[in-house]
Amino acid sequence: MAGTETQQDGLQENRVFNPPADFTAHAAIAGMDAYNTLCAEAAADYEGFWARLARETVSWHKPFTKTLNESEAPFYKWFEDGELNVSYNCLDRNLENGNADKTALIFEADDGKVTTATYRQLHARVCQFANGLKSRGIKKGDRVVIYMPMSIEGVAAMQACARIGATHSVVFGGFSAKSLQDRIIDAGAVAVITADEQMRGGKPLPLKAIVDEALGMGGCDTIRDVIVYKRTGGNVAWTEGRDLWLHDVIDGQADQCEPEWVGAEHPLFILYTSGSTGTPKGVQHSSGGYLLWAAQTMKWTFDIKPNDVFWCTADIGWITGHTYVAYGPLAVGATQVVFEGIPTFPHAGRFWETIAKHKVSIFYTAPTAIRSLIKASDTDAKVHPKNFDLSSLRLLGSVGEPINPEAWMWYYKNVGQERCPIVDTFWQTETGGHMISPMPGATPMVPGSCTLPLPGIMAAIVDEAGQDVPNGQGGILVVKRPWPSMIRTIWGNPERFKSGYFPPELGGTLYLAGDGAVRNKDTGNFTITGRIDDVLNVSGHRMGTMEIESALVANPLVAEAAVVGKPDETTGEAICAFVVLKRARPTGDEAKQLAQELRNWVGKEIGPIAKPKEIRFGDNLPKTRSGKIMRRLLRVLAKDEQITQDISTLENPAILEQLKQAI
Ligand code: PRX
Repeated sequence: MAGTETQQDGLQENRVFNPPADFTAHAAIAGMDAYNTLCAEAAADYEGFWARLARETVSWHKPFTKTLNESEAPFYKWFEDGELNVSYNCLDRNLENGNADKTALIFEADDGKVTTATYRQLHARVCQFANGLKSRGIKKGDRVVIYMPMSIEGVAAMQACARIGATHSVVFGGFSAKSLQDRIIDAGAVAVITADEQMRGGKPLPLKAIVDEALGMGGCDTIRDVIVYKRTGGNVAWTEGRDLWLHDVIDGQADQCEPEWVGAEHPLFILYTSGSTGTPKGVQHSSGGYLLWAAQTMKWTFDIKPNDVFWCTADIGWITGHTYVAYGPLAVGATQVVFEGIPTFPHAGRFWETIAKHKVSIFYTAPTAIRSLIKASDTDAKVHPKNFDLSSLRLLGSVGEPINPEAWMWYYKNVGQERCPIVDTFWQTETGGHMISPMPGATPMVPGSCTLPLPGIMAAIVDEAGQDVPNGQGGILVVKRPWPSMIRTIWGNPERFKSGYFPPELGGTLYLAGDGAVRNKDTGNFTITGRIDDVLNVSGHRMGTMEIESALVANPLVAEAAVVGKPDETTGEAICAFVVLKRARPTGDEAKQLAQELRNWVGKEIGPIAKPKEIRFGDNLPKTRSGKIMRRLLRVLAKDEQITQDISTLENPAILEQLKQAI
């Protein structure tokens, strides 16, 4: 395939791939007529549409009578008088409908060791876990922080919280002690569930030690228990009276546990994510609406069938790992792979080897992983997908960032062998589940475009005044109507929720995704053009520039810092920081050494994923006369491009020369 310039640009992409006829023949949404019928149903009777799905897809302990309550918009309530339990829906329901001895989880450890759990076994384990948590006095409404590796226990911890009505907040194992401390305090958590260590690429990495450090920083007074899963058996420090081994908490507990029935709006979880300003925000999700969409999108987007083996490579620390590992697949009784490792260990063919090993039929990963594996197989032919038996695959998915048409084509040809549709799923932590994506048995696919909204999702593109823009004209991506799995609020900060997601400038009723987008003139297909705020997307990880700047200026050497994104072939975007030190501007080896020091500092403050790829030092930053940093110029400098913009408002043009110089 020729990689021409125009193909780099999703807007000009005109290759179209229709779903294979034999896929459509058995698909949940079979063809565009079926898709259009669902969209028409939602348009004609919005509440009726969602009520029907909620009755068909979710098992209610007490049926709901009200579908949508908009009286306190944008604090929408869905199915509010209904009662359910999410863990019941994911586990007990499968015991009742013939899936008891079906494999629920296939755990593939970092070293390739496999452990499986049937629905019956997982149910028993989650019940014991839930009883163990109860024995520690943890109850409905309490917050529990989960800082765990990918594991059966990690999934069980989330399900156990759901079972007793405790609200979990999973923190990705790559976040630092400081980030963990911030989240524990903000959530007011009563317990942390963690592991001694996690294994990544053959190396043990500490988890418990980071929890100790976080709690040692102070302020986490609400924490009573630290429950530790023994993953590696590595050495850990122990605080008597606070620390407990998971096996001591749950072994010997009864393997039955009556689910705690909760209202549909009960917060199932809080998940912290980065915004354009300030500290990460705790995105609060519901139980009923969230579960509905987790399950419904498994059926529609992933066309899940009883014999599928589903594999979503995301970590449970991210929303993708919540919806498409911990909840969605279980809610529909699927068999899924849970993967502890990394795509490049012991070699960059690990994904393909694992697909062959477990006969994976639906594979869902991020463009960054695909791009890095393309690179790897270019240099080492042995890890090319063609060397592995991928005949079990029938559907591929992409998530987290725009997929460039080149990567899409490679994925389609080499992994999907031109047989598997690709669902390029656009969504966010806040949306709970897929928003815009091809329906694999219906939508004609266009590389680089997430195509069309899911039935019931009223996505649109507007201008800065909230007015619709015509197809072909770029604008701001919004959602015009509330949907069941949407964010309910920001934990502890309803004002930030309201002003951030329903800004008055757009009229106050449109959900602002934070992305720019454009629709194709002819097809109406959406292409996401990237964030319109100060949020970066590095390897599919969301990062606030302000957060990284705050981390940098917290270093005693740093006077000022500005962070921008720069395009990166593998990671999508890379972090580039411009730094002014309190001492003279360093050059040569000193600059190299200080840049490394600051990188490590950011790693400590936020986590390794936030380390700037590049740091440049200046005597100052480019500022307007009123002292505002001119970030648009920094973006140009970071790309090593010539500045062609008007710089007449710039107070200190000489600084640009200095900042052009990479270390
Ligand atoms: O910019 C969009 C990008 O990722 C952002 C959401 O990040 P997060 O909340 O971490 O959730 C990621 C996993 C759902 C969005 O605002 N994004 C996500 N999926 C896509 C995407 N950009 C383009 N195409 C996608 N398929």
